[in-house]
Amino acid sequence: MKLILPWGMALSLFYFMNACSTPEDVPDPNDIADAMDVHTYAHPQEARIDHLTLQLSVDFDQLQLSGFAEYQISRDSAATQIILDIHHLLIDSVWAIGPRQQQSATFSVGQTRDFLGAPLTIDLPLDAHTVRIYYKTTPESLALQWLNPGQTHDKEHPFLFTQGQAILTRTWIPCQDSPGIRYTYEATISVPPGLIAVMSASNPQEMTPDGQYTFKMNQPIPAYLMALAVGDLSFQAISDRTGVYAEPGMLGASAYEMADLEKMVKATESLYGPYQWERFDLIVLPPSFPFGGMENPRLTFATPTIIAGDRSLTALVAHELAHSWSGNLVTNATWDDFWLNEGHTVYLERRIMETLYGVDYSNMLALLGYQDLERTIVDLGDQSSDTHLKLSLDGRDPDDGMTDIAYEKGYLLLRTLEEKVGRQIFDDYLKQYFKDYQFRSISTEQWAAYIYKHLIHEHKIDLNLDGWLYNPGIPIDHAQIQSRRFRQVNQRIKEFTRIGRLDKSNTRNWSTHEWLHFIRHIPSDLHISFYEKLDDVFELSNSGNSEILAVWLELSIRSQYMPSHNRSILDTFLTNVGRRKFLTPLYKALLETNQLELAESIFNKARNNYHSVSDNSIAALIADHKQPG
Ligand code: BES
Ligand code: ZN
Repeated sequence: MKLILPWGMALSLFYFMNACSTPEDVPDPNDIADAMDVHTYAHPQEARIDHLTLQLSVDFDQLQLSGFAEYQISRDSAATQIILDIHHLLIDSVWAIGPRQQQSATFSVGQTRDFLGAPLTIDLPLDAHTVRIYYKTTPESLALQWLNPGQTHDKEHPFLFTQGQAILTRTWIPCQDSPGIRYTYEATISVPPGLIAVMSASNPQEMTPDGQYTFKMNQPIPAYLMALAVGDLSFQAISDRTGVYAEPGMLGASAYEMADLEKMVKATESLYGPYQWERFDLIVLPPSFPFGGMENPRLTFATPTIIAGDRSLTALVAHELAHSWSGNLVTNATWDDFWLNEGHTVYLERRIMETLYGVDYSNMLALLGYQDLERTIVDLGDQSSDTHLKLSLDGRDPDDGMTDIAYEKGYLLLRTLEEKVGRQIFDDYLKQYFKDYQFRSISTEQWAAYIYKHLIHEHKIDLNLDGWLYNPGIPIDHAQIQSRRFRQVNQRIKEFTRIGRLDKSNTRNWSTHEWLHFIRHIPSDLHISFYEKLDDVFELSNSGNSEILAVWLELSIRSQYMPSHNRSILDTFLTNVGRRKFLTPLYKALLETNQLELAESIFNKARNNYHSVSDNSIAALIADHKQPG
C-alpha cells in the first residue's frame, strides 16, 4: 500500500529518497515509477485508468471526432474522484458505471493553462469502477491534422492523422496523459465510405463495406502512443508480421523502400530480446506529417520524405522500430527523462544499422549525429540547462525539451559505456534492462541506480555519471567517433574549397550520408561560382533525396546562392513538406541572412499545410526573431 501525500510533500519525499539512494539500494523494478510528472493533472495514486474503450465517429465535413471514451479504473479505497487531462475538448456528459447501476456523474472542468489544458475532475460514486465520457473534438484539437484531398499524395480523398507525443493526446481523447500511466485499449472507429482507419493497435488490412473498424491493443501503453490515421489506404505485406500502409499511389515505392523491415525486426530481437507487439507495420503519411517518424506501437507513422527510391533513409525505420524496446516497452517516466527514450533508441538504431549494413555505415550515422549534437549545443549555449540529459521542464511545454541533446548526448553516453565495458557485457546488460523494466516507466534516477548496480559498480567503470546526467555540454571522457568513409570525403572537400576541383568519379559510390557530410562542410562564404559549379556538376538542386535537398537548400540560403530555379524549389519544398526537422533550419537560415520578409511570405502561404506542431515552432521562431527575448 502506498502512502498518499499531498502533491508538494510527495515531491519532496521523492527527491529526498533519490538523494539518499546509493548504488546498493537499487529500487525494485516492480515498484512503479513514482516520479512526479508536472505535465499531467492526474493523481494516479488515487485513481488511475487501466483500460479504455473508445468509440468515435470521424466527420470530415465538420472536421470533428465525436463519441465516447470509457475507462475501467483502479482506485484507492479513499479516493472519491478521478482526474483526467483534457485540452480543447467539449465534454457533453459523464456517466459512472458500477456493478449495479449506471448514473450520470458530476464533473468539473478546471482552469485551462497554456499547453497543459485543463483537469477534468469526475466524482466517483462508492462502487463505480467505470466512467464513460461523451465528448467532441474542436478545431483547436492540436493533435489532429485534417487534410483536404489536395494535401494528400493521390489528391482524391481527405485524410486525418493524429500526433500524440508529447502531450497532445489530451486534445483528442480525455485521458491521464502521462508517460508513467499505462492502459490497454479497444476502439471502434466509424469513417465515411471509401476510407480506412488504422490505429496503434491490431489493424485491418482491407476496407470494410460499412466504414466501421475495430481495434485492440492488449499491451498496456501510455497515452502519448495513442494514434489514429484515416484515409484511402492500401496495405502490402513485407513478411508474415511486417507490412506497409500508404495511399495507393505511394504503396509500391513505399514497399520497395521497406524491403528490409523483417530483417530489422530479427536483428533487434537477436540483440535485445523478443519483439513484444506481435506485428510491426508502417504507414507512410502525407507530407505534412511533422516528424520523420513516430513510434506508435504496432504501426509506426512515417513521413513520405524517407521514400528516396534507393533505401538510403531507412535508419529512421530502424529508429522507430527500436522504440518498440526503448520507449514503448520501457518508457521515460516523465518528459524530463525524455533522453531515456531517445538516447537508448538512437543507440539501438545504430546497432541495427550496423548489423544489417556494417560498421562503416553505422559510424557515418553516428558522426552525423555528433555533428548535430555540437550544433545543438552551440544553439542552446554550452552552459544551458537544456543541454543536461535530465531536463527540468516545469512550467514549460515539453516540446521545448525535445532537442538533439536527448538523442545524441544520450547516444554518446551509451556508446561511451559500451566502450568502457566491452560490447558483450553491454549487450547482456541492455537485454536484461529491457526485461526487468518491460511495460514500466523509469526515471533518470532509477536508471542511474540500476546501471550503477549492474554495470558501473560491478565492472568497476570509471565514469562521472552525474556529470553526464546533470551537467551541461559534452563531458570530456566521451567515446571518439571515427568514420573511414568520411575521412575520404574530407579529402574531396579540401580539393574543392582550395582549388575548385570536382571530380565526379570520386563521388560515384557515395551514399546519402557522404553527401550530407560533404555539403555540411562546404563553407557558406565562398565565391558564388563555387556553388554554381557544385550545382552544375552534381545537380544538387534537383536532388530527389529530401535530406540532401534540405542541407543543400540551407547552404544555398546562407551563401546567397539563389537563382530563380533554386528559389522556387525552396518555395515548393517549404510549402509541401511539413517535417519540422527540415523546416526549422531553413527558416532559421532565412532569418539569419536578413530575409524575414521572404520567410514570412512563404510561411503565410505554407502554414495551412503544416500540422500544429510545426506551425507553432515556426511561428515562435519568427516571433522570436522579430522580438528577441
Ligand atoms: N518519438 C520521436 C518523435 C517525437 C519526439 C514526437 C518528440 C514528439 C515529440 C521519434 O521517434 C523520433 O525521434 N523521430 C525522429 C527520427 C529520427 C531521429 C531518426 C524524427 O522525426 O526526425
Ligand atoms: Zn525517437
